[in-house]
Amino acid sequence: MPIMKKIYKAHILFTKEKDHFEVLENGYVAVGADGRVIAVSARLESLECKDAEVIDFGNKLLIPAMNDMHVHAPQVHNQGVAMDLELLPWLENYTFPEESKYADVHYAERMYRRFLHTQWLFGTMRSVVFGTIHTESTRLLMKLYQEAGMGALVGKVAMNRNCPDALCEDVEAAVRGNEELIAEFNRPDALVRPIITPRFVPSCTPELLKACGELANKYQLPVQSHLSENVSEIEWVAQLEKESTSYGDAYNRYGLFGQTPTIMAHCVWTHGSELELMKRNGVMVAHCPTSNFNLSSGIAPVRSFLDEGLRVGLGSDISGGHDLNMFRMLVYAIQVSKMHYQLDHGKAFLTLPEVFWIATKSAGSFFGKVGSFEPGYDFDALVIDDDILHPEEYSLLHRLERYIYLGDDRQIVHRFCRGQEVPEPASMEDSGKRIS
Ligand code: GUN
Ligand code: FE
Repeated sequence: MPIMKKIYKAHILFTKEKDHFEVLENGYVAVGADGRVIAVSARLESLECKDAEVIDFGNKLLIPAMNDMHVHAPQVHNQGVAMDLELLPWLENYTFPEESKYADVHYAERMYRRFLHTQWLFGTMRSVVFGTIHTESTRLLMKLYQEAGMGALVGKVAMNRNCPDALCEDVEAAVRGNEELIAEFNRPDALVRPIITPRFVPSCTPELLKACGELANKYQLPVQSHLSENVSEIEWVAQLEKESTSYGDAYNRYGLFGQTPTIMAHCVWTHGSELELMKRNGVMVAHCPTSNFNLSSGIAPVRSFLDEGLRVGLGSDISGGHDLNMFRMLVYAIQVSKMHYQLDHGKAFLTLPEVFWIATKSAGSFFGKVGSFEPGYDFDALVIDDDILHPEEYSLLHRLERYIYLGDDRQIVHRFCRGQEVPEPASMEDSGKRIS
């Protein structure tokens, strides 16, 4: 029996199953000294822990924290910029020039602190993050996450073709940089760990993809990349990797497609053998609805992914996406699925409990036991004070729905990651500035 640390009392809502919310009015969650949930119950007596301190959040809501499963920290300066281009010209004209600036660690520090602060504001306690090719700036980003007490899988980006010289790194240097970060950060159960990050097939020679696969295998590290986002990109990959039967197969041939835990952003055009391979290999999809709108990439068939049993999470994909607020990402995911439903009535649109489950328990499984309040789960939680949203007029479920649709960071009054309260991280700028 773990040592009891604290009991939190509030209106508790979470999604153990994907089609409905667990709702505990004036419920209790007991958290051990290791930051993990011991028990959740509607009644204090049933927790059998009379001596533990009870922290009463009164009429507030207690919900699992958000997970951003695909985000580019070094694109924060471009948030809301160049939203009228498709993927390939957008990368060349805006994204690559911005990422080149991260050779300068001082610039990186200012931007990375801004980025983390915004994630904190919106209650995102875990992320799967792209850095840049720069080892020093990526180390800094990892240290900032550690310092903040927020969880992250952080990737030093691998790229060596079809990019400006400033973002091209030879294979040996890429391996060396990765191994430095692995030596420093790869601890079992650490909140901040490295993830192998080939940018996407067009940016990586076969030698670099092979080296990435070997690193993932040697150190048993997870992998992230982009997959089947845009039609021109997919045609380009077919030309570059002629022997592959699909874009996904190009990763698979190098051990980068589920040989270790793998998450692929977008999958807008994934179908047929690529989908089968993802299923077989347990590859998770990071669905990024705002990015898919902004870069005019298309509509990912998330209902089909769920029907096929694929694992799915949600990503902001800053700065293809413009919004770091993951609650709004839930709304966008629902809305885009309703557009899809209008095109194909055979595929029902996504509902709120389904999308909440995708964003919390389903996404959280990439980090271990994260995203639920069931016993054994990391206590990653947010306390929501929705007093300005007239809570007295609504059921608890509608209060949560209204918070998701209408709320923002100002209603998040406590944030926890693995049982620890996460205070506001230091920024180098006026932290009064809110980016919503
Ligand atoms: N494909 C390769 N790089 C990127 C990127 O930075 N953002 C998005 N959305 N897609 C990519
Ligand atoms: Fe991306």
